[in-house]
Order: sequence, then structure tokens, then C-alpha cells
Amino acid sequence: MSFGHAAPREMQPDSFAFTKENLEKAQQVIAKYPPGRQQSAVMALLDLAQRQHDNWLPTVAMDYVADLLEMPRIRVYEVATFYTMYHLAPVGKWHLQVCTTTPCWLRGSDEVMRAIKDKTGLGGHSRHCHGAKRDEFTCEEVECLGACVNAPMLQVNDDYYEDLDYERTCQLIDALKAGKPPQVGSMTGRQGSQAQAGSTSLQHVRKQLEEAAKQRAAAKPADTAPAKAEGSAEQPAAKAKPKAKGADAPATGTSDPDDSPVKTKARANKTGEAQEKGKPADAPEDPNPADVPSHPPKSGD
Ligand code: FES
Repeated sequence: MSFGHAAPREMQPDSFAFTKENLEKAQQVIAKYPPGRQQSAVMALLDLAQRQHDNWLPTVAMDYVADLLEMPRIRVYEVATFYTMYHLAPVGKWHLQVCTTTPCWLRGSDEVMRAIKDKTGLGGHSRHCHGAKRDEFTCEEVECLGACVNAPMLQVNDDYYEDLDYERTCQLIDALKAGKPPQVGSMTGRQGSQAQAGSTSLQHVRKQLEEAAKQRAAAKPADTAPAKAEGSAEQPAAKAKPKAKGADAPATGTSDPDDSPVKTKARANKTGEAQEKGKPADAPEDPNPADVPSHPPKSGD
């Protein structure tokens, strides 16, 4: 919950309107809701307005959103002042939001706040810039940000940093000062939200898989002993078959005995003889006279 106050009058701009691109985005969001329910788009549109206006929401931007959604302005103010994601006054280049709700508090959010105080001089209620110049850091305490499993955690602008302690928070602030924010997520490197001691689920399956992998690795050398395979570089290259004279077919590299030069020539002779007799080349041979019966077939045979 946010109890932020609007920026002083001298900081407030005179007008606000979505850019053409953002207006199109706003209309796409509004179109997701049924007719008469367009007010449901209020949070998305306030976020869009804040991003367009240097990460804070002037009063005229809230009014603009209210008019666009045809809802009372006070209803928009209620939303914008409730959630800490909306900033009603300018915030620093790095806006730190420290979760101090019970899980994070039990896991050391006080140490996170101490590190921020030591490194930036800010407390948990330094949520806005007060001068004309933008501050490098602003900081506020917020309620649960939904990353309790990796508590304690801290949000920097749009990014979450988790598994913090005093030293890691100091390192994070130093990196931000240097303009090199570290990789977001757990600062201890744990994956997702697994237990700190490592994975605890399905360990028997992991063991089975590791055992199977070991067995495969042990069996591999015997199965794949480097035999000198035929056609390997050390084998003499197979001799190219002589091509039948006049044959245009490309060499196939097969060892079909029917392709031997002698047989090829015999086939050519046979084709020539058959053509002389007016028979197709593939016609069956004349039967052996010895196999022909000497008597003519009787009718009815
Ligand atoms: S309690 Fe801190 S993220 Fe939920």
C-alpha cells in the first residue's frame, strides 16, 4: 500500500497526453474488456502513463486516464495511491523498493535496509526526489512483492534481486552506482526457488539417470572400438569400373556383375540380333527345339 503524496505544485506539468504509439497500446488494452467495463484497464493505462512520464505520475496524467476511461477522477487517484508501483512524484534513477513484510523480515530485510542506509544514506521513506535535480537513488519500504521464497528481496526499478544479505546488498548498490546492474534474480545463484541446499525433489530419479549415464559411458569404448572401416581414408580407394564402350549411363559405383564389359557386349549383340529378326530386344528366347512336342496339339488340348 502506498501513502505517497503527489509532487508539489511546482513539479507538476501543465498537461499530459499519450503519444500516438501509447494511445494505440491503450486502445488495445481497453479493447480486451467488454463494453461498459473499460474501467478495468485503469491499472495498465496508469502504468503506461508512468513509463511515458519518466517513471512518475503527475496529477494531469491521472486525470487524462480517468477521462479516457470515462470514470471519476477520484477513482483513479484511489488506485494510484494504493499501489506502490505507481510513483506520484519523481523518483531516482535507481528506485529501491525493499520488501519488509514478515517472510522477508524474518530472513533479514533489516540487514538490507542497513546496507542501503550505509551505502546511500537513505531510509525506507526516501521515496521521492525533492530537488530540481534527479537523485541517483530513492528508497521505500514496501509490502510483499511475491518473491517470498527467495527472501529477503529488493526491487530496483522493474527488476527483482533476491537472496540478499548485508554484503550482497552493498555489492548490488556498488554495481548500480557503476552503472552495471548485475544479473537479476537470486544473488546466490540458486535456480528458480529451489531449496538453498540444492534440489530435494525426485532425487531417486536423478540417481537412476546418473547411473544409466555411467553405464552407457562405460559400455561405449567396447561398442565403438575404432575398427578400420571399409572405405576409410586408409583403405585403398575402390577401383572405378571400366565403362562399357558407348554407354552413357553414369557410374553408380555398384558391383553388379551384370555390368561387366563382357556381359554388356553380349547384351548389345543380342539386341542387334533381335532387331534384325524384328523382335523386341526383351522378347524371350526361342524355345529349344528339343523341348517342342513332335506332334501337333489336338483340338481341345
Ligand atoms: S514477504 Fe517479501 S516478497 Fe513476500
